Amino acid sequence: MSYQKVKGTQDFYNENSLKMRYIEEKVRSIISNYGFSEVITPIFENTEVFVRSAGDSSDIVTKEMYTFLDKSERSITLRPEGTAAIVRCFVENKLHSTPGIKKYFYFGPMFRYERPQAGRYRQFNQFGVEVYGDSSPYLDTEIILSAYKVFSNLGIKNIKLKINTIGDFKSREDYANALREYFANHLDSLCSDCKKRYEKNPMRILDCKVDKDNEVLLNAPRIKDFLTEESKEYFNNVLKSLDNLEIPYEVDNNLVRGLDYYTDTVFEFIIDGDNEFKGLAICAGGRYADLIKGFGGPDIPGVGYAFGVERVMNIMTVENLFPTLAKEVDVLIISLDNDSKISALKLADKLRDNDLYVELDYKNNNLKPQFKLADRVKPKYIIIIGEEERNSGIYTVKNTVTKTEDKIEVNNIINAIKENI
Ligand code: HAM
Repeated sequence: MSYQKVKGTQDFYNENSLKMRYIEEKVRSIISNYGFSEVITPIFENTEVFVRSAGDSSDIVTKEMYTFLDKSERSITLRPEGTAAIVRCFVENKLHSTPGIKKYFYFGPMFRYERPQAGRYRQFNQFGVEVYGDSSPYLDTEIILSAYKVFSNLGIKNIKLKINTIGDFKSREDYANALREYFANHLDSLCSDCKKRYEKNPMRILDCKVDKDNEVLLNAPRIKDFLTEESKEYFNNVLKSLDNLEIPYEVDNNLVRGLDYYTDTVFEFIIDGDNEFKGLAICAGGRYADLIKGFGGPDIPGVGYAFGVERVMNIMTVENLFPTLAKEVDVLIISLDNDSKISALKLADKLRDNDLYVELDYKNNNLKPQFKLADRVKPKYIIIIGEEERNSGIYTVKNTVTKTEDKIEVNNIINAIKENI
């Protein structure tokens, strides 16, 4: 029997759990100024939710889902991504019945049976946003801007925004036909998965991890030559507004994304620093015209993105972007007998009510081990309580920074410490 974590999963403790929550809190605060409200959905859904949305030719659906039958033989899947679940929730709860654009965000674990490697896990956390109800290119720009702001506020600079359009339905259909015609003569040089992709969705071939350097793929027709006038104009407006907002980007005509639901704008932020995570996508998203309709809802467009919280954490760690996160101890109370330990508990309670971080010793009555504890936790103040202090109500308070010591009446201790901290 092995008591080890499942391959591709991680434990977060000490510094790392603090890092994770730091990112979450920062992101929540930045995003709150854009009017997003949080949606919390189950971490598992009926399998069909993801098959319908991600597409039955995507890698996620064909290879990476944690799918199982529950005790009633229902097919259940641990969510591999958030978009489908949020759309399902939006339609099922008729959130479209009130007027206006709807802006949502989510935070939580996702599950994909991928090959674990640097920055790629089988359980990872995503922060994502989804906006429903408007098909303006300026909304796409604002969405991209919000991700850009999150990263710049976290201090992340070494990333590159790649953007493309995969056009509207007509552009995509014309393009798919052109790809089918082109790949028909090159099927022999494609991997076995790509042969299947050729039948179901030839655009998926361009996203193949195995064939990515294959000449045949590199010379394939480009979506930009099949865009309708509307799609071209739409994309130009996205780029123009990005230029005006001075958000640097690179148009990448090969960017098609690994999920089937996208139309028009697609984008990824790629890690560009000189480290082991270089080339990984830190964030990805785009527009989807018919997902809500596909779930039985009204004809409302959506746009959104998600980023991998662990990848953000990885890059911030290698680039030293985290501030000191562990909370500093304000006060350590040293107590010299059992009754003093009770007085220490009482005083600690009052100090904590006043937002001070207090540590205590629960076991030792001698000074030596308690000063050892002080060496370890490095408090700003040390308060000593013994029989004499209890009887007089006047405690010894040592300031470890100025190395001074005062006798302070117990009721004045809080004010005395707060004034100085
Ligand atoms: P995605 O590209 O599949 O898109 O994932 C988004 C981000 O999640 C990636 O850029 C990456 O940072 C992170 N990620 C994905 N897989 C892993 C993994 N195995 N380990 C660590 N991090 C990972 C989506 O999920 C779409 N739902 C995004 C979206 C939202 N599109 C529109 N709205």
